[in-house]
Amino acid sequence: MDSTLDKQRRSRRRSRLIVIGSVVTLAILIAIGVSVGVVVSRNNNNKNRSTSSTSSGSSSSGSGSSGGSSGSSSGGSSSPALDDPNDPSKFSKDPNLKKVMWAMAYTPDWALPDFNCANKQETVIKDIQLLSQLTSRIRLYGGDCNQTAMVLEAIKVTKVDMQVYTGIYVVEKDDDAYTRQRDAVLDAIKTYGTKNIAGITVGNEFILNYLTDRGASTSDGNSATGEEAAKILIPKIQDTRDKLNALNLDKTIPIGNSEAGFYFNNHVLEQCDYGLSNVHAWFAGTTAADSAGWVANYFQETNVVPAALLSNKPKMFVSETGWPTDAGPNAKLNAGGAEASVANLQIFIDNWVCQANKNGTGYFFFEFIDEQWKENKFPGTVESHWGLFDKDYKLKDIKLPDCLAS
Ligand SMILES: *[C@@H]1O[C@H](CO)[C@@H](O)[C@H](O)[C@H]1NC(C)=O
Ligand SMILES: *[C@@H]1O[C@H](CO)[C@@H](O)[C@H](O)[C@H]1NC(C)=O
Repeated sequence: MDSTLDKQRRSRRRSRLIVIGSVVTLAILIAIGVSVGVVVSRNNNNKNRSTSSTSSGSSSSGSGSSGGSSGSSSGGSSSPALDDPNDPSKFSKDPNLKKVMWAMAYTPDWALPDFNCANKQETVIKDIQLLSQLTSRIRLYGGDCNQTAMVLEAIKVTKVDMQVYTGIYVVEKDDDAYTRQRDAVLDAIKTYGTKNIAGITVGNEFILNYLTDRGASTSDGNSATGEEAAKILIPKIQDTRDKLNALNLDKTIPIGNSEAGFYFNNHVLEQCDYGLSNVHAWFAGTTAADSAGWVANYFQETNVVPAALLSNKPKMFVSETGWPTDAGPNAKLNAGGAEASVANLQIFIDNWVCQANKNGTGYFFFEFIDEQWKENKFPGTVESHWGLFDKDYKLKDIKLPDCLAS
């Protein structure tokens, strides 16, 4: 099995146990979305060929999928109906969907070298048709498997209104993975233009992973070990900016970094136009009723206030927040506060979405669909159960509020 992914899985598990601060908050926000770009192991392609699904994202034949997905889904099917099979811009809208999310987290399913890049353009088009009924912004985590181009192509052919925060997933000691993704992202921007590009995010939870891999007793991104990690990350952020500037594009594209909420490093943020902070109330053990307020307070105190003190004042966003609806047999439904359940996802949506829309918090709802590559990589955990849709594209039994996002 892929050691990088194993390590990340371990590190995430461990990081959930870290006591943040000291007192109340047995917090852990983490990462889930993480791994996405995880990518990385070109060299594992062949090894994994026999075990990983090579089928398209619509198949659920990932090895571990028998585990969790008890699918509390009773909502109707939300696959978009094509009004004209030759024109993906003509699709029927689902009346259950509303553009209430400021932004959504998204990874095309199986878009990792570990799965032989089994992501399919047609699936990405379907995803974008659905996502465009929920939001006008998405974030990606990595740049492998041609996913940036596929997403931009999907936006082009569906003609939807969608801005993309593209991603380059940085892994320690794999500079080739960085370079490969950087080039793919920049090539996609050259091909499709800047119109739908909101930013390029370099790194996701790099410092969290760096610290937990070393068994660091701190979760402080500004600790000595955090500074070591920053020294690896910063040249890549600068390099992306340099290469981007060299293209002389018609618009300035912001460069950012994504990190688990507590792990940001100030020197990294000083290189960034924006910071994306992953903040999960469920891992912090809050009740569903308290979760929205917990996320808002945590984000304000841990990210917004400190970032405003930096000379460049990077704009901060909540880049993952949501609620799981199920947990596989290797995980508890309950992380100390409220259970993973559809009912609690509904409570989180009800308490978070309209207030955050009203008070101008930029957030990426986590997440669009139960991603099956996660069931394959992290079988039996909560990882693959955070979607608004289940793995079969059925909207879970939730009702979206009426307030629209700006
Ligand atoms: C990447 O995706 C785009 C859009 O579908 C396609 O035109 C291009 O050929 C793809 N490139 C590769 C190397 O697969
Ligand atoms: C913004 O919205 C969040 C999410 O519901 C809420 O908890 C927070 O108190 C709000 N902040 C302000 C300043 O109104």
